[in-house]
Amino acid sequence: MKKNLIQSLYIATISAMIIGCSESKKISADKTTTLKEAYKKDFLIGTALNTAQIEEKEPNSAALVPQQFNAITTENIMKAEIMHPTWNNYNFEMADKLVAYGQKHNIKINAHTLIWHSQLPAFVRRMKSADSVKLFFENHINTIASRYDGKVLSWDVVNEALEEDGTMRKSIFLEKLGDGFVVEAFRLAQKAAPNTELYYNDYNIEEPKKRAGAIALIKKIQAAGVRIDGVGIQGHWRIGKIPFKEIEQSILEYSALGIKVMFTELDLGVIPNPWDGNAADVNLKAEYNAKMNPYAKGLPDSVQAEFTKGYEDLFKLFLKHKDKITRITFWGVNDGQSWLNDWPIRGRTNYPLLFDRNFQPKPAYYKVIGLKK
Ligand code: XIL
Repeated sequence: MKKNLIQSLYIATISAMIIGCSESKKISADKTTTLKEAYKKDFLIGTALNTAQIEEKEPNSAALVPQQFNAITTENIMKAEIMHPTWNNYNFEMADKLVAYGQKHNIKINAHTLIWHSQLPAFVRRMKSADSVKLFFENHINTIASRYDGKVLSWDVVNEALEEDGTMRKSIFLEKLGDGFVVEAFRLAQKAAPNTELYYNDYNIEEPKKRAGAIALIKKIQAAGVRIDGVGIQGHWRIGKIPFKEIEQSILEYSALGIKVMFTELDLGVIPNPWDGNAADVNLKAEYNAKMNPYAKGLPDSVQAEFTKGYEDLFKLFLKHKDKITRITFWGVNDGQSWLNDWPIRGRTNYPLLFDRNFQPKPAYYKVIGLKK
């Protein structure tokens, strides 16, 4: 299987050369390269993995992931509802398997995520007393962060604590613990996981108001004498709406705080969003209708071209600031597995990643690789 994939990558590389020679930089025919190889001197190239992929039960991913990526983020298995389903019950099985997978393939692991208002276990969602929330909060961070210290590279310690206007998000944590909860989460994580990098992760924090909120939050953590090593800009964007100017400004402003900058959940949606924005709140939902699923039978060439250009321009920008960026992670391996087929409307056909539904590299893949030739 692995051999087949490598062969098909090789054939696809040559076809892309023939088709795209005039406009793309040459891809050398004598050897194939991969994303992680092409960018190895610049930043890590990551992907998000689901359960079947971690267990290597899905042969195409089992071959492709170690070939193309040198970083993994857990798509769901380290979220609280899965890792900590009831008060005293922790579910470590999949995360332990992931650690073994990372060691076997020499892939760095970013654990996602300790404190987040979404995908919380039911017992936490039902909590009324501040003391209970505090106890959950402390036990959760202490138990999980200490177990994986030295086994994972990093944690998204807090995910999505901000509203679009840069104020603190109205969540159970803000309500019960007050607005110091983010600093407290990092303080506990630092103690439990002294050998693990600690990050704040959020969507739309490239946008000016939310960015200002994130910068204030990061400064508050630093002012408290607590360690924060990096910031993750999720990067769930849509073609035609990629905020290049704000992305560049964000790279500069975040790195000026003395922390690493990462793009942690990159995907470029090509189908309509009911609210026409880039907000990636997993709790948003809308009804299906055929008009909202325009490319169910295939992607028109013009849209494919715009998508390819979007990735090309993004990676040009990332390369321009490679001294400040440590990782670019795609949110999923191939188009068929992307969460964007089911969010915010279930059952659509989206095309947001560099590999198609058959695990074949798309034109955008060659453009991204081609920037390094
Ligand atoms: C998504 C997963 O991809 C889905 O499988 C799950 O149903 C919902 O969560 N921002 C985040 C990620 O930080 O954890 C979300 O992942 C996507 C948006």
